[in-house]
Amino acid sequence: MRLQDKIALITGAAGDIGRTTAVRFAEEGAVVIVSDINAEGCAQTLKAVEGKGGKGSIIKADVTKEDDIINMFAGVQENYGRLDILANIAGGDFEPMITVDDISYEKMSYNIDVNLKSCILCCREAAKIMMEQRYGKIINMSSLVHRGSPMQFSYSAAKGGVFAFNRTMAMALGMYNINVNALAPALVEVSVIKDAVGSEMWEALSQDCAERYPLGRVAQPIDVANCALFLASDESSFITGQIIEISGGARL
Ligand SMILES: NC(=O)c1ccc[n+]([C@@H]2O[C@H](COP(=O)([O-])OP(=O)(O)OC[C@H]3O[C@@H](n4cnc5c(N)ncnc54)[C@H](O)[C@@H]3O)[C@@H](O)[C@H]2O)c1
Repeated sequence: MRLQDKIALITGAAGDIGRTTAVRFAEEGAVVIVSDINAEGCAQTLKAVEGKGGKGSIIKADVTKEDDIINMFAGVQENYGRLDILANIAGGDFEPMITVDDISYEKMSYNIDVNLKSCILCCREAAKIMMEQRYGKIINMSSLVHRGSPMQFSYSAAKGGVFAFNRTMAMALGMYNINVNALAPALVEVSVIKDAVGSEMWEALSQDCAERYPLGRVAQPIDVANCALFLASDESSFITGQIIEISGGARL
């Protein structure tokens, strides 16, 4: 088992990528703390974890609220006494497919809160625990759109911020034996996108991407979860500050 008895906190664990990651970590022996704003989704994820013989618990938290984040890490500390792995997966594009004149202060702010500020604050709280124990693996969620993406203004900015912050945290925490890396997936087949665009548009979108990605398909949540597993394990112990593109070679 690659994560035997490790304590792992996963935010966004009710979503497709978060749930797949939670189950993958549990399969490798981790105790998984499932966190999301969506309590019902958390319960489903914990059920999936337990269905694989894994163990875990739920902490409901809204990562756009500093108090929720502080309480979440206090809960981890209180219940488990340590934290080995943090996967910051909560996020999404809450201002998608707009033109530049449609950028709204509220939606832009929310995108930055949920994708970037949440990452900074969760890393801060995790670092306090991990620095003490001189061990930790932090996995942040960026996106291939950190390089810029048409019609994704505030989301690409937020994910670009994750990219820069990830490197800075790696520089600060390396001396404490804490690895900080980020994932940058291209298009992943997830229900939130499929539901938002509808089946016809999804077919067109995923086919267009598949034609442009050298590996000829879009990503599945398991592709992202497997990369997160590698970064959470000691197999990646000399890798830090990296942003791993999970893109089928989309950008070579
Ligand atoms: N799907 C893709 O193509 C893709 C590509 C690159 C990066 N990503 C990133 O991967 C991550 C997971 O996305 P997904 O595709 O699985 O979508 P998803 O919507 O299934 O998962 C996102 C999860 O985050 C949770 N969340 C949203 N706001 C929250 C908040 N304020 N507090 C706590 N939890 C909150 C949602 O409830 C949801 O469960 C996101 O950060 C997303 O930006 C996705």
